[in-house]
Amino acid sequence: MNKQRETGAQSITVIGSGYLGATHAVCMAELGCRVLAVDVDETKISRLAAGDAPFFEPGLEPLLRKNLEAGRLHFTTSYDEVAEFGDVHFLCVNTPQQDNSDAADLSYLDAAVAALAPRLRRDCLVVGKSTVPVGTAVALAKMLVRLAPAGARVQLAWNPEFLREGYGVEDTLRPDRLVFGVTSLEAEARLRRVFAPIIEAGTPVVITDYATAELVKVAANSFLATKISFINAMAEVCEAAGADVLTLAAALGQDPRIGPRFLQPGVGFGGGCLPKDIRAFAIRADELGVGPALSFLQEIDAINLRRRGRIVDLVRAAAGGTLEQCSIAMLGAAFKPNSDDVRDSPALAVAATLHQLGAAVTVYDPVANDNARRVHPQLKYADSVSAAMADVGAVVVLTEWDQFAELDPVALANLVRRRAVVDGRHCLDGDRWRDAGWEYHAPGRPGSVPMAPAAVPTQRTQRPALPPLAPGRTGAFGRSSSDGRR
Ligand code: UGA
Repeated sequence: MNKQRETGAQSITVIGSGYLGATHAVCMAELGCRVLAVDVDETKISRLAAGDAPFFEPGLEPLLRKNLEAGRLHFTTSYDEVAEFGDVHFLCVNTPQQDNSDAADLSYLDAAVAALAPRLRRDCLVVGKSTVPVGTAVALAKMLVRLAPAGARVQLAWNPEFLREGYGVEDTLRPDRLVFGVTSLEAEARLRRVFAPIIEAGTPVVITDYATAELVKVAANSFLATKISFINAMAEVCEAAGADVLTLAAALGQDPRIGPRFLQPGVGFGGGCLPKDIRAFAIRADELGVGPALSFLQEIDAINLRRRGRIVDLVRAAAGGTLEQCSIAMLGAAFKPNSDDVRDSPALAVAATLHQLGAAVTVYDPVANDNARRVHPQLKYADSVSAAMADVGAVVVLTEWDQFAELDPVALANLVRRRAVVDGRHCLDGDRWRDAGWEYHAPGRPGSVPMAPAAVPTQRTQRPALPPLAPGRTGAFGRSSSDGRR
């Protein structure tokens, strides 16, 4: 390592090797840093060290292998090695929703800092990337100085991450912006050295304080969630008025002040980030005495969860009016395409509710079946589209994988007992399916089944504070899992 310092290469460590950490570690190695990544999960670390990505992220595995072979990237479970190795330590552990509240669970972050700090004996920079409630960085900076033998020679910076699962490599190597929350010019200079190739490529850098850096991340995710729920609220209105939400979204998106992205209506947002981040942000605002400023986020959440109930209504209609004894093919389990992540997946939440309501649901996802089975073992899983669709009374598409958009409705027509499809992501060509003899249902489009009073639970678990929801009820539309991967 000393030799590396002489040659100017950065020695960085990445603490937490989930979707964020592993992707960050691989990409930093690709940018020329020497990288040591750590995780408490030994299986994950031995897979990564063997060049085997423990989750599906397009483009990650070839870069993982390339950088392992180049000797720039190493994995460990030892914090002693981490402390010894790193000039810059990136905190990339997950901050999921707490089990019994909407607040963020910072226990992984606290544990990481508690493990690292007492081993820090020389100058270094600790950089937080995890998504946290505003105010966390100040507390961690104090904790570092208190626990580290090097004391104030250990500095903290906050550098939020904006990568999207499925595009993690691209978003890390070519981000839209870098945000550095720092308290010294030295910390800024160190970060500029680590990210030099990205900055030289013209990426804007925002230099700010800890609180603003922390807020940029949760504000960005809240804005994205708001945009999605806005168009899904319009879908509700379209359903009542007989209008077409897709045409509405296209026309809105042509206004450059609005823009077309994150304006795709359907079953709504899920995943390990947007849902838990808007909830934790609302809680934090409350703690800061500005709860009303973010009370709209509760409505964003409620609109989002209502979409799941709406899809269940459409499936019931598509199945001929009842779900009892009905067999259903669920195409998609991941919370979005190009990912095997099933955390708070709308597709799985709907599948679980259909099952609760008496349907026999068979799920097929190109990459997420195994993760889905762990969370919902009560559902059946098929290893192909045609196996899932055999003899079913309705087909439901809730993750817009390209391979579903390309399905041939003519070839599939004879597989099913009833030709009825619910396109909860607007990813199929409705005319093509209708021409092949299918009943085609899509939320927010003309001809969709009229809105009915909610016949199924549309709320998630543990949210007594949410006004529109009946307290104490427990539905299937809550968070599906928090498996500690981010
Ligand atoms: C999100 C943010 O987009 C990232 O910038 C952020 O870094 C990340 O969270 C994080 O906090 O780590 P991600 O959760 O990977 O990224 O997924 P998104 O692409 O944002 O999609 C979230 C959900 O919204 C998915 O279920 C997707 O299907 C849904 N969505 C997205 C819609 O329903 N409509 C849209 O128009 C767009």
